[in-house]
Amino acid sequence: MENSNGAKAHPPRTRRLGIWLVGAHGGVATTTAVGTLAIRKGLAVPRGLVTELSDFSALDLAPLSGVSFGGWELRPGTWREAAHEIQDRSGTFKESLLGAVEEDLAGFDRWVKPGLAAGCGEAIGALAPGARREHPVDFFARAVEDLARFRREARLDAVVVVNVASSEPPPAVGLLESLTTWTSFAKELKRRLPRLPASVVYAAAAIEARCPYVNFTSSAGSNVPALAARALKNGVPHMGADGKTGETWVKTVLAPAFLARNLKILSWEGHNILGDGDGRILAHLENARAKLQDKDQALRRILKDPAVHSRVRIDYVPSLDDWKTAWDFIHFEGFLGVKMILQFIWQGCDAALAAPLILDLARLVEFAQKGGEAGWMTHLACFFKNPRGVEENGFEAQFERLRAYVRAHVQNRRNPPLASSALFRYRR
Ligand code: NAI
Repeated sequence: MENSNGAKAHPPRTRRLGIWLVGAHGGVATTTAVGTLAIRKGLAVPRGLVTELSDFSALDLAPLSGVSFGGWELRPGTWREAAHEIQDRSGTFKESLLGAVEEDLAGFDRWVKPGLAAGCGEAIGALAPGARREHPVDFFARAVEDLARFRREARLDAVVVVNVASSEPPPAVGLLESLTTWTSFAKELKRRLPRLPASVVYAAAAIEARCPYVNFTSSAGSNVPALAARALKNGVPHMGADGKTGETWVKTVLAPAFLARNLKILSWEGHNILGDGDGRILAHLENARAKLQDKDQALRRILKDPAVHSRVRIDYVPSLDDWKTAWDFIHFEGFLGVKMILQFIWQGCDAALAAPLILDLARLVEFAQKGGEAGWMTHLACFFKNPRGVEENGFEAQFERLRAYVRAHVQNRRNPPLASSALFRYRR
């Protein structure tokens, strides 16, 4: 084929996206990598990916065929070993599927680099007792270089960092809020006795390397004033926190429905039991604290009624592995004060619920950066239990916000002169 100048035209090169996973050998990270390869080889359909819905087809999102993986991890091992462990314990992948993607999976091992254990608490520290203990300031410099090298050597157009590491204990009260400038952050980073949680150092490195950042966990991540300001300055989109994949997603679908029918919620008890690595870490109250709060707040912010009794429990049941069961008991009042009950039982394979959303988020933040957007990506609230910069917690309203974003971008593309409104640029 020739172009209008008579020169030989090359087919457009596939846009290549790198997804850098913090907690690379965990259940969510490994399932994301295995699933992407399976879809790419035509062994699975992209079920569960919101970005594969028809509404999103007009956006120029990075194709899954061009995705590569890398990341930081504390535990030794390979991606293949991690995938087999998941397979043996939870049976998430068909044996034949795993066999077909193993070689490609092994190709990503060269991009898994040692992580940072500082500020993660005892439970996480115990995951890799023999790991090299790097000071955060040295790690930060290496991390920025790890991301740059991944981009350069894997010939990527963009790299997105996604935090899927174990949940950290909260840092000292007021510490993160006090870091309002990059100078104050840099000073804290250099402290001889580190106080910053690793998730914050990872987020800072991503922002410094100009990589969009997603915090899928309840850890602090980029939720620090100095990092939010730096993200705007560096043109970096970021969003969190804590992926909304199962019980909390259903809660935020149901709660607005009760309000719409003027039914009064009296009590909402949610009891979660799960196994695997996440459950093991969440068995430590200090590691579970932020997640328990995220799960409860999502409901309370919708109900806006301080009199409601609500509680969330998370218990570790090792034999369940990645299969989580949540039992929710909703006591509510209807006409004439009649009290009624709704109960639901949610049984999900946690990583299989999370993995497609990781791909969605990576594609959407990369798309945002390509269009010049930076700061908190509030249109992605529907993916999170505790969305930053957003008051709305009802799922449908949040999802409508995402649809509106997509419609505005499609409209912008069809009608470029109107695009100058910079509607989606530099959100604060
Ligand atoms: P996992 O325990 O299987 O994996 C976590 C991985 O992170 C482990 O390989 C661990 O060694 C690694 N890690 C821990 N601290 C690290 C650090 N400082 N640096 C580098 N690596 C580190 O847990 P899973 O099930 O994969 O979940 C990952 C995260 O996603 C958890 O925080 C979980 O609460 C969160 N999440 C998961 C959801 C789901 O699975 N549906 C929903 C919402 C949040």
